[in-house]
Amino acid sequence: MTSLSLKQAQQRIEQLRAEIEEHNYSYWVLQQPTISDHLYDQMMRELLSLEEQFTQFKSPSSPTQRVGATPQEEFKTVRHSIPMLSLANAFSDEELHEFDARVKKFSERETIEYVAEPKFDGLAVELVYEKGLLVVGSTRGDGEVGEDVTHNLKTIKSIPLKLRSPGRAIPRKLEARGEVYMEIADFHKLNEAREQKEESRFANPRNAAAGSLRQLDPKITAGRRLNFFCYDVGKTDGIEFSSQEELLKTLPQFGLRVHSQFRKCRNIDEAIGYYRELQEKREHLPYEIDGVVIKVNDFEIRRVVGEISRSPRWAIAYKFPPRQATTRIKKIVLQVGRTGKLTPVAVLEPVKLAGVTIQHATLHNQDEIDKKDIRMGDFVLIQRAGDVIPEVVQPIVSRRTGDERTFKMPENCPECGDKVVRLPDEVDFRCENISCPARLKESVRHYASKSAADIEGLGDKWVEALMQAHLVGEIPDLYRLKKEQLLGLERMGEKSAQNLLDAIERSKRISLSRYLYGLGIRHVGESLAELLASHFRDLEKLIKAPEEELLAIPEIGPKVAESILSFFHDERNRQMIKKLSAAGVQIHHEQPASVRPDLVGKTFSFTGTLKTLTRSEAEVLVKSFGARIASSVSRKTNYLVAGEEAGSKLEKAREFGVKVLSEEEFLRWVRSS
Ligand code: IVH
Repeated sequence: MTSLSLKQAQQRIEQLRAEIEEHNYSYWVLQQPTISDHLYDQMMRELLSLEEQFTQFKSPSSPTQRVGATPQEEFKTVRHSIPMLSLANAFSDEELHEFDARVKKFSERETIEYVAEPKFDGLAVELVYEKGLLVVGSTRGDGEVGEDVTHNLKTIKSIPLKLRSPGRAIPRKLEARGEVYMEIADFHKLNEAREQKEESRFANPRNAAAGSLRQLDPKITAGRRLNFFCYDVGKTDGIEFSSQEELLKTLPQFGLRVHSQFRKCRNIDEAIGYYRELQEKREHLPYEIDGVVIKVNDFEIRRVVGEISRSPRWAIAYKFPPRQATTRIKKIVLQVGRTGKLTPVAVLEPVKLAGVTIQHATLHNQDEIDKKDIRMGDFVLIQRAGDVIPEVVQPIVSRRTGDERTFKMPENCPECGDKVVRLPDEVDFRCENISCPARLKESVRHYASKSAADIEGLGDKWVEALMQAHLVGEIPDLYRLKKEQLLGLERMGEKSAQNLLDAIERSKRISLSRYLYGLGIRHVGESLAELLASHFRDLEKLIKAPEEELLAIPEIGPKVAESILSFFHDERNRQMIKKLSAAGVQIHHEQPASVRPDLVGKTFSFTGTLKTLTRSEAEVLVKSFGARIASSVSRKTNYLVAGEEAGSKLEKAREFGVKVLSEEEFLRWVRSS
């Protein structure tokens, strides 16, 4: 209990709210974190406890309301004050020229200026701000009436609960429209977690975003990482916009996030140029876009050209070629994962999809196959979403001939012949033989992967080659490899061999969380490994932890606890840990993130090879200071850390006058913090 007077409490509450929202804005809208998560949590806790004690100061626009209100019985409906229109689609340059001609005809103008923006693949929402406060948030629904998802939208940190006030007055009313979406990485994490809990997977990030937003319990929404881009307004009072450009430049001043790379185009050909550029960038974006929206810039012209059948004549969606295709399943084979899980994979008649030839698609598990009724010989619709491996969406039943065959899991592992089992409450079938060659290969590959030991250059291909040459049978063997042995492998040159050995050597210093993740314990993904590392801080303590201690951690349920216990109970795993430490693998313990005020918002870039840390460890450090990482050097870069054999980035840095740090200098900084 605090001994604050009412007035003091009110002041402190307001101060905390303002500061927390400021940090939310920096982190989610500007994407430049300003404080550590730890400090943020502390402020949030203090605010929560003050609001508990001084209930008279509770407010719907407090950042504490983002964590989720009480569940609802059902959604109320909301009528949009101005209908939310849909967009006509175009699939070719020709259709775009036709669109341009129509705009010119209806507006009686010879030149038309456009604004081109990404078409985000999420779901459209409307946020109603009255006197700067978010009062209602709704889905698009049928365009006239949507669902009231205010409580859920409030959990999205890039949505301001209160508009920021720039040098100008806050409008009496502002209806902001935009897209709620989920980043591809968060979509994968969500599906991974759902799979572990035996829940069904979301088909794509858009479904995941929609499913998360339409939760009756806002606490569930709060646990999903949703995001928001604003691109339009509905009714406004106290503010007027005369062009899309003005709108997109003004909204961020109120704290509303817009995409930074929209483009004003002098004519339709420039807009087509933007489409081509974005199509190239599409694969590298952290979220999905399915085309470009091209809009007449001038609002006066928009009024003149009007709309037709619920779509504006002044805008069009130029869609990217679909990442779906139809092909036939030749057969279904099984892939054995590191935990012994058997994943059915469809072998396809090769088909081109967004520029890549596809021959395999995952079928996830037997239940999915049964649910979708996928058979060998079927024509199927396949899709690739983001960086995901392609998957089979559905069979095309109308093309069946009767010769299709259903698929049933075999009783024996296709790799080692051992018995395949399915535990009573699980969807997966697995090979129980811990020495199954397929499992061993996967476990080595997993250990070497970027998020685990991060052994650069040790991908699928070399793991396979090392195992076939009997140089590696299990993870610790990696640390016994000699150069001569590597040189004996086909297509392994002197330089690659040395690089690989160096990378293996570097991986001997590993953080506990990466080590735990790398061991490949069932149900222990990246985030759980981090959690275990920060809870136990010591491998021995975790190995000896009794079930009660594991279960006392809120994120760990009986199934995960059981998996951890049985992993460390298994003599073969204990042996492996012993061998790793005998080979010189040293686990170091992570420091809690510590923000350095002088580095917050500064940009770092790396070049060349680092000797003491891996590139990704260095990046984690830099981010923990509150600084950012850029993949290339520009005038805006503040520091370039140059390791050995630095490349062209070094020249660029010198040209731009960017401060260059050697690895030693960089490490001295790190230690001094
Ligand atoms: S403008 C009348 N801009 O596309 C035009 N829409 O088919 C109002 N969308 O429901 C929409 N990105 O979900 C606009 N940059 C963007 C967009 C966008 C995605 C979606 C939105 C809308 C659908 C229209």
